[in-house]
Amino acid sequence: MIVSLGLNSRLLFAITSVALGSAFQHGYNLGVMNAPLVLMGNWMNATHFNKTNEYITEGSLTMTLSWVVSIYCVGGMIGGACTGFFSERFGRKGGLLINNVFAFMAAIMFGFCKMANSLEMIIIGRFLIGINNGLNAGLAPMYLSEIAPTSLRGAIGTVYQLAVTISILFSQIMGLESLLGTETLWPILLALTAGPAVFQMFTLPICPESPKYLLINKGRQTDSQRALSWLRDTTNVHEEMEEMQGEAEAQKLVPAVSLREILTNPTLRIPLVIAVMMMLAQQFSGINAVIFFSTKIYESAGLGEDEALYATIAMGSMNVLMTLVSLVMVEKAGRKTLMLTGLGGMAIVCVFLTLCLALKDYGTWISYCSIVLVIMFVVMFATGPGSIPWFLVNEIFASNARPIAASIAVAVNWTAAFLVGLLFLPVATALGPYVFLVFVVLLCLFIVFTVKKVPETKGRSIDEITALFKQQAYGGGNSV
Ligand SMILES: *[C@@H]1O[C@H](CO)[C@@H](O)[C@H](O)[C@H]1NC(C)=O
Ligand SMILES: *[C@@H]1O[C@H](CO)[C@@H](O)[C@H](O)[C@H]1NC(C)=O
Repeated sequence: MIVSLGLNSRLLFAITSVALGSAFQHGYNLGVMNAPLVLMGNWMNATHFNKTNEYITEGSLTMTLSWVVSIYCVGGMIGGACTGFFSERFGRKGGLLINNVFAFMAAIMFGFCKMANSLEMIIIGRFLIGINNGLNAGLAPMYLSEIAPTSLRGAIGTVYQLAVTISILFSQIMGLESLLGTETLWPILLALTAGPAVFQMFTLPICPESPKYLLINKGRQTDSQRALSWLRDTTNVHEEMEEMQGEAEAQKLVPAVSLREILTNPTLRIPLVIAVMMMLAQQFSGINAVIFFSTKIYESAGLGEDEALYATIAMGSMNVLMTLVSLVMVEKAGRKTLMLTGLGGMAIVCVFLTLCLALKDYGTWISYCSIVLVIMFVVMFATGPGSIPWFLVNEIFASNARPIAASIAVAVNWTAAFLVGLLFLPVATALGPYVFLVFVVLLCLFIVFTVKKVPETKGRSIDEITALFKQQAYGGGNSV
């Protein structure tokens, strides 16, 4: 039986420490590059001129900036792949704390790159912060889902994504010219990434290690009970301890899952394919492409620079708002429903967006329609595909398989982001406005997959969910 325990101030403190310290870190670095890219280009041009007495060519400037942007994904992949090792070796909390070292090193690189006239320092900094963000994206949702009471598991799972969207918006606002988006201040804009790390170094040590990790991975019963009592703010944690104990007993019979096993064992392969597909659905849904194109779409609608900025902020705000709505909805409507609503909505919006882009010369009102559609696209993304893949991974695996599964899922997510970043521009150049039809096709594939293969995890325990996969693997059943 699941004990329904609510939120209390200690649990809230732990969630805040991870949300602001890790998720905020992640979102900040996702959003922060938009504003200073042009300023950085000017600086690189000037630095290049000082060193070689020649201006940098357009081509090599684009190349260098692409590196600055994309090396972050390479770091993210590495960090993602290390999630399993860190979470086992140092624990969830320990891993999160150590991870801040990467953020401090990156902040030093960013803060002094201009002073040192060194382009390489930005690239190294982006690589380091990528590793940090990759680890955060694996460790933080794991810690959050393990400290959450079952009744709040879904809602707390969306906290990570919510904090990411808020900090993307925050970084865009900080990048405004009237704040830090200037010729002299942009290194500080980047170096601000040390802020969340400092916050976490002060707050997370107060919070306990994940009780599940202590009990199941380390067999430290008393410590686990103490951690759980702290988080629930009551000594009456007997039932929940028993439930975890049950999971621990079951674990003892099943040793930690290896990479080979997760790829070959059908009971594990089914949820692995689901986790990977949900990550691919998130990245190949076209969200980054639409956000990338948004500036151009706003321009073609005749918006001035300032107005385009407000449209960007409106888009960011809607993203935050809808993620918040999804946080409330996820326990009521369920994960699968929200994922399907989001993917379906994105596909429909994408069709209309293609029409608007193709027909934009027939009137200004069509351009205004595209602005609304871009915002709608972001709204649909935030409804499901933005947040659900991240905690679904933690919900469909027992804890002996969770670390390796999370590693794979996060690495897949970063690789997909890297590929979209790499391939979108060439494909867009070739197809013009019809580039979005590629995403319509992909979205339809992901919808079919979700309908057929993804089980609803709302209100189900890990045991029930794993039993379901076992039945599918050996019983040949496909029903959900
Ligand atoms: C380039 O050199 C000039 C003169 O030495 C100096 O004032 C300027 O700050 C340098 N600019 C960069 C970006 O290194
Ligand atoms: C570099 O700076 C010079 C002088 O300001 C400018 O003419 C040139 O277009 C710049 N090059 C690039 C690639 O931005």
